[in-house]
Formats: sequence, structure tokens, C-alpha cells
Amino acid sequence: MEEEFVANQERLKPHEEKSEEDRSKVDDLRGSPMSVGNLEELIDENHAIVSSSVGPEYYVSILSFVDKDQLEPGCAILMHNKVLSVVGLLQDDVDPMVSVMKVEKAPLESYADIGGLDAQIQEIKEAVELPLTHPELYEDIGIKPPKGVILYGEPGTGKTLLAKAVANSTSATFLRVVGSELIQKYLGDGPKLVRELFRVADDHSPSIVFIDEIDAIGTKRYDAHSGGEREIQRTMLELLNQLDGFDSRGDVKVILATNKIESLDPALLRPGRIDRKIEFPLPDIKTRRRIFQIHTSRMTLADDVNLEEFVMTKDEFSGADIKAICTEAGLLALRERRMKVTHVDFKKAKEKVMFKKKEGVPEGLYM
Ligand SMILES: Nc1ncnc2c1ncn2[C@@H]1O[C@H](COP(=O)(O)OP(=O)(O)OP(=O)(O)O)[C@@H](O)[C@H]1O
Ligand SMILES: [Mg+2]
Repeated sequence: MEEEFVANQERLKPHEEKSEEDRSKVDDLRGSPMSVGNLEELIDENHAIVSSSVGPEYYVSILSFVDKDQLEPGCAILMHNKVLSVVGLLQDDVDPMVSVMKVEKAPLESYADIGGLDAQIQEIKEAVELPLTHPELYEDIGIKPPKGVILYGEPGTGKTLLAKAVANSTSATFLRVVGSELIQKYLGDGPKLVRELFRVADDHSPSIVFIDEIDAIGTKRYDAHSGGEREIQRTMLELLNQLDGFDSRGDVKVILATNKIESLDPALLRPGRIDRKIEFPLPDIKTRRRIFQIHTSRMTLADDVNLEEFVMTKDEFSGADIKAICTEAGLLALRERRMKVTHVDFKKAKEKVMFKKKEGVPEGLYM
């Protein structure tokens, strides 16, 4: 009997050892550093084609502990770092780039900080905010609300400022991108980002997508020579596709901003896509007065300051120039440790700002 026991022990031991070994192997797989990839295609129960962000695609096995019901082509997966087999599944495959774009903290600028531009404010409210808050009004009249608006005009006329004010006042999700952010290193990443952006917007609807400096990707289509240019065009084509909204985009509104509207592809601006164009002109006299008021409201001015003089000049000012003048005047006063900003400060500041604007670079550099 003793002999039998020993023999049995002998027989069982390797078995236990083996399962122990197997378990440690699985742990190895689970615990080792992993890379993130994309599931391209499921071949059968245990095999799939995957791609990593670097490019090539691989035929790999799927480990048994991965929940196969949740695997579907296109989802983000965890791969073993060497043999690339599928070891896990990433639940939420929202691109981290896109979640960065969601504006969680409302900007400080509000409508009250905008001088003039009343017509523009009203138009953006009608085209963007009203359809989100009161869609029934548009249904009553029987028209489809516009999909979005484009803000255009000289640099520094308040386009970005107005978009910030919209973000500040709206209760809808606000997503903000700069056109150049949509240009990506790897082929296909730009269009993917656009798709992802609109998907997130859809998930969080009602929402507003704001793309600043759209000319980075929205230029006219022509024979592109380099692969980079073609990629940028594909990014724009994806944008057009998303705007067309094969899947209806009722609750997503788009705001574009640019200072070079003439260089944009007409397809982007044709009726049915972004057909509402809001122009931002240089401020007129009344608006200038208002902008000066806004920017000097928190400054301590000396009694001799006569802002009317600057309001009435013939020089062309944009809102940004006016802000620059006020800041510059404040700095001049600060330099002499004065608590009040005088008229002379403003005069000097204006000359400086106008000089910089005309010449671009100080003359001294060329001597
Ligand atoms: N109408 C305005 N009222 C008050 N401030 C203004 C106005 N327009 C411009 N400004 C000031 O000028 C600054 C720059 O404006 P903004 O960033 O909106 O320019 P922009 O139109 O987006 O220019 P760009 O085309 O170069 O992007 C703002 O931060 C704001 O302080
Ligand atoms: Mg801007």
C-alpha cells in the first residue's frame, strides 16, 4: 500500500507542477508590459488580425481568457508586447486626443466682454444655440436649422472671443479643436480624429464643435503633390462627410473660424453644409468706444485721459489692437511706478502699436 502511495505521488507531482507552470505563464502574459493596438478582423475563435499604431498588421492568437463576445473589428485591444497576441480589451476606445478637446471649465469671457458685434452675437445665437435649446421652433416653421456657422474677418476682430463667449454661456457640451491639431503624424490618423471628434460630440449631444483656424485643413482642393498634402485633404473630406451627416446630426452644431475665407474649399461652404457666414468687420467708431471702455474698465486712469481722441482717429484698429494699446499704456505707467495711467501713456502706446503693425519689425534691425 505504501508503495502504491509513493507511485501515485510520483505520478501526480508532474501534473501539479505543469499546471503551476501554465498558470505562471498566463500570469506572465497578463502582467508584462502591453501595447495598445487595433483589432482589424476576427478570423476564427482563437485568431485575429491586429494592427499597432506603427503600421504593419499581424495574424495573432487570442488568449482564452479574453471575452470574445466583446471583441469586434475596430475596437482597441491590449496586446502582448512581444508576440502581440490579444490579451485584453480596452472598454472605452475614445481617442485620448478627443477627450482633451472637451471644454470642461467654461472660459471666463462672456457676451458682456464683447464690444459691439451685436448682429454677429444674435446670428450665432440663432444658428447655434436656439436649435439646440428650442428645436421645436424650427419644426413649427418647417425648416431644418443650419448645421453650423463660419466666422470670418480680419485678425483680431473677436472671432475666437465670440466662440469663447458661446462656450461660457451654453449648457451644451463644447468641443474645441484647432485646425492644425487635426493634422497627424501617421497616415489616416487625421480623418480618424475627425470621426472620433464627431462621435464624441454625438455621444454627449447636444453639443457644439468649434474648429478654430480651419484654413489649416480646409484649403481648396488641387493637385496635391506630396503625401502630406493629400493626407490633409483626406482630413477635410472626412470633415465634409461628417457635416453631411449620413447619420443625422440633429444635436451637433459646428462653428468654424478663419481669417482667410477666400482660400477655403467652396464645398465646405456650400448650402447644406456650413452655409451661414458671419463676417467680423473692423470696429466702427461706436464699437471702438465700447471696446476701449471694456478694456480700460479695470484700469485706474488719470483725469487727463481723453480716450475720444483714439476713438476718433482715422487709423484702422482691430479689437486686438485696442487691447494691445491699453495693455501697453498700463505697462508704461508701471515702468515709472505710477498708479495712474495718463494720456501721454496712451499716446505713446498707440504710436508703438501702430508702428509695430505697419512695419512688422522695427527698422533698427536692418541698419
Ligand atoms: N469686439 C471686441 N470686443 C472686445 N475685445 C475684443 C473685440 N475684438 C477683439 N478683442 C480683443 O482682441 C483679442 C483677440 O481677439 P480674437 O482672439 O477673438 O481674434 P480673432 O478674431 O480670433 O483673430 P485671429 O483671426 O487672428 O484668430 C481678444 O482677446 C479681445 O481681448
Ligand atoms: Mg482666433
